[in-house]
Amino acid sequence: MPLPIRPRRNRQSPAIRSLVCETRLSPENFIYPLFIQEGSENTPIDSMPGCCRWCLADLVKEAAEAHALGVPAVVLFPRIPDELKTPMAEESANDEGLVPRAIRALKEALPTLTVMTDVALDPYNSDGHDGIVAPDGRILNDETVEVLVEQALCHARAGADIVAPSDMMDGRVEALRDGLDAHGFTEVAILAYTAKYASAYYGPFRGALDSAPKSGDKKTYQMDPANVREALRECAEDEAEGADMLMVKPAGPYLDVIAALRANTTLPIAAYQVSGEYLMIKAGAAGGWIDETKVMMESLLGIRRAGADMILTYFAKTAAALLRESCGGGR
Ligand code: PBG
Repeated sequence: MPLPIRPRRNRQSPAIRSLVCETRLSPENFIYPLFIQEGSENTPIDSMPGCCRWCLADLVKEAAEAHALGVPAVVLFPRIPDELKTPMAEESANDEGLVPRAIRALKEALPTLTVMTDVALDPYNSDGHDGIVAPDGRILNDETVEVLVEQALCHARAGADIVAPSDMMDGRVEALRDGLDAHGFTEVAILAYTAKYASAYYGPFRGALDSAPKSGDKKTYQMDPANVREALRECAEDEAEGADMLMVKPAGPYLDVIAALRANTTLPIAAYQVSGEYLMIKAGAAGGWIDETKVMMESLLGIRRAGADMILTYFAKTAAALLRESCGGGR
């Protein structure tokens, strides 16, 4: 057949495929989300096979293992005992609370590890919402932002490198920047959850932390899964307010949103492969229907290809170990 253009020539051997490869995964792209709890025991999380809520001693070990494999950062999610949950979420700014103690333990043991924290009220608030709930059920924006600033300052005092507001309140990035700067924390960075959708994919996470809303849903603050122009509006806003990095969440079902942000900002972009995305891969593999390792790597590669610089993923440690072994994933 006279055929001058034969794209298969560039796919004919692992060596050529590796030369023409456009997107690479590396442990350096991963941020490892870790759940923490009080006490000296670890509790496996039913809704997220392979994940645990760690006690502080084992949190440090788990983070150390991931860091030794090249993962540069972790992000912390606490399970707060019910008796400490209040309508105003006071525990979120307690310097002796679980998160600040975890930050101090990590920074002391692993000074080169970047420690990131989630800034939102849902683990601390007796209503299970990311913001303060008024008696009539409305989520109060400006009152919430004041509490979030106290929470971020508490994390900064404990040594957090990056605070990541996941609450989706308006004006929180600017308020956090002002608050951090006013207290001398000019080096603490803000990773804004810029386009966080009201997603059913968070279900397993809420099970892990008992943090599901007691009433209503999160649709007055998290975004409508139907919208992408609105994500660009949030992007412009967070950038103008001083965010250092932006996030899209979930990741896999929102690759177009990642690509749209990539085309519209010079800031680094993170994507969060959330609990439901993780669980679907785990469940498919547990049933013997898909190859867990290959689907895991393909899902992560797709997120990078869409334009994410970094990925928050529960697979961080496993994928990092695999990349270490295979030097790039066996093409
Ligand atoms: C809450 C928060 C959620 C997740 C991260 N931070 C849940 C929610 O918004 O209801 C979800 C993460 C996941 O599903 O893996 N501030």
